[in-house]
Amino acid sequence: MSVIDEIKARLDIVDVIGSYIDLKRSGKNYKALCPFHQEKTPSFVVFPDSQRWHCFGACQTGGDIFTFVMKREGVDFQTALRILAQRAGISLDALQADEGEGAALRKRLRDMHAAATAYYQENLLRRPEGEDARAYVRSRGLSAETIAAFQLGYALDAWDGLLNYLKGLGYEREEMAQAGLIIVREDGRAYDRFRHRLIIPIHDAQGRVIAFAGRVIGQGEPKYLNSPQTPIFDKGRTLYGYAQAITAIREADKAVIVEGYMDVLSAHQAGFRNVVASMGTALTPTQLRMLARHTHHIIFALDPDTAGLRAVERGVEVARETLADHVEAMITPTGALRFQSTLEIDLRILRLPEGLDPDDLIREDPARWQTLVDEALPVVDFYLKRIQEDLDLSTLEGKREAIRIMGPLLREIGDATVRDHYVQRLARTLRVDERSLAADVFRPTRKRHSQPETRVAIPTRAIPGEDLERHIVARLLQTPEILTHLGDALQRLGQDDFHIDELQDARHRLILQVLLTRLIGGNLTGVEDILEDIPQDMHDYIQELLEYAQAFPEMPLPVARQEVVASILRFRLRRHQEMASQLRFLLEEARTQGDENLTLTYGVQLGNHLRAIGELHRLLPAVLSP
Ligand code: UTP
Ligand code: MN
Repeated sequence: MSVIDEIKARLDIVDVIGSYIDLKRSGKNYKALCPFHQEKTPSFVVFPDSQRWHCFGACQTGGDIFTFVMKREGVDFQTALRILAQRAGISLDALQADEGEGAALRKRLRDMHAAATAYYQENLLRRPEGEDARAYVRSRGLSAETIAAFQLGYALDAWDGLLNYLKGLGYEREEMAQAGLIIVREDGRAYDRFRHRLIIPIHDAQGRVIAFAGRVIGQGEPKYLNSPQTPIFDKGRTLYGYAQAITAIREADKAVIVEGYMDVLSAHQAGFRNVVASMGTALTPTQLRMLARHTHHIIFALDPDTAGLRAVERGVEVARETLADHVEAMITPTGALRFQSTLEIDLRILRLPEGLDPDDLIREDPARWQTLVDEALPVVDFYLKRIQEDLDLSTLEGKREAIRIMGPLLREIGDATVRDHYVQRLARTLRVDERSLAADVFRPTRKRHSQPETRVAIPTRAIPGEDLERHIVARLLQTPEILTHLGDALQRLGQDDFHIDELQDARHRLILQVLLTRLIGGNLTGVEDILEDIPQDMHDYIQELLEYAQAFPEMPLPVARQEVVASILRFRLRRHQEMASQLRFLLEEARTQGDENLTLTYGVQLGNHLRAIGELHRLLPAVLSP
């Protein structure tokens, strides 16, 4: 049995979710206030029978224990797996055997970092040799609380302070070097990487120290020394201050990205806790996704100098790529793959006053920081302003350049009204005709060529309801080409495009996500490609799915597609039936409690599900035997 199956077998969804929130029994199910949105009446339901959960309130989403933990803890599948494995009492050995020796090594490196952190803290807080460093943190205005919350420390002015300390704890030199904490010279002699520096520990999302930055005390070069890339530290997958900022980011529904360590420390100290730092490098898609798990409102606070602006541009670029990457809907029109990002990030730019970084600014005038955050410009406005400042818009050259810069941004705006608004503004700014500008920016897209209707008999085979989801995913995994016209086929039936969120099993979502991303990116050649993007722990399951799919009779692509369409319809029918039966209970309860609002809400929802059921009953026979 794979680790995942074992977790599923050992854990009960009621216990798992019940450990996060208060569950109340309601018939054979359990109810609670939804942890993912504000509500006064519980519309979050846990179904022990199917081991699933669903929110009938504002969220209208659900899933299994993995999706719950992912959503609740804001972590990826892999991390959710780890959390649940631990809960299930599945020994780390089992997981390690699954992952090879990597996990054991990483744990040892993290332990070493924890020890080093304690050592550095002791130096800063208590040792006589720490006086310089203490004076320095005072001069930077860092409070005792900040120092404690961020575990700041001090590396002594010595060659082997940490080295000896770790040796005393039984660590080998090789491991210390692997952790990036010491440097081993050619001649075999070793010394501490960080000497006479203020130590700023860098944490992972779970708040564990995985690297250090060392700032020179006072003036000196380099100003900051950072841990190198190690098995536990990848700069591009880390944001400084992230663990400390998560709660605030959720509460404020907004994250601010700054450049430096000191900016984060100052911001948090002043009560602006939704601030993280990219650590002086260009933002990566991973970093953006880390934030997008908690909020869709992201603000770049960057220096107004050209380097800063270039960083903004790169950031926007990354955001764009990340969005394109994050295909969650599989919408497929005739001829081409259409896709929709559920990662709609509202990206804004905060332009700092000349010569001030957030640290300076917050120290000088915290209220001004708040104003700048509140007034950060949406990316399109920011660029509109920039082209006015940077280009000579009276010349043809200037206009062309402006269109070149603005075009891609305008084309990306999904909402037609918003798009028109900006086209209007750009036209006015450039003093050109609005209609010719629009024509220029939105060149005619490819013609839709109509697809002959595929009318073929498909093998009918009874698949038990529970397994329909698995069946669909297995079929798609085996024949991803089915996806290319799936949206079309569904639309012809008046059905919505197939959406990843419809899937309840977190593994299935992950598989489909990877399939889609690769299909759209044009880099899907075989199942091996998919395995690359999927955690090791899931490989067995993929194998299982493939074996299942292979047992299915072979059929030409259009037939296969039709079969999947039929399966999707049956899957939806079943989901609607489940939802409807649940809503009947909820409705009854709301009625007896005399809650008219809720009665109405549930009534409307029930009506929708019943209509959908009727429609599916009407469609299914036609799809099954055209
Ligand atoms: P800054 O030079 O703006 O530093 O670099 P800072 O954060 O304002 O620090 P103070 O206020 O001078 O003490 C921004 C970020 O770039 C990275 C660090 O992450 C830094 O916080 N950086 C900078 C380095 O990694 N190494 C360096 O030598 C300089
Ligand atoms: Mn600074």
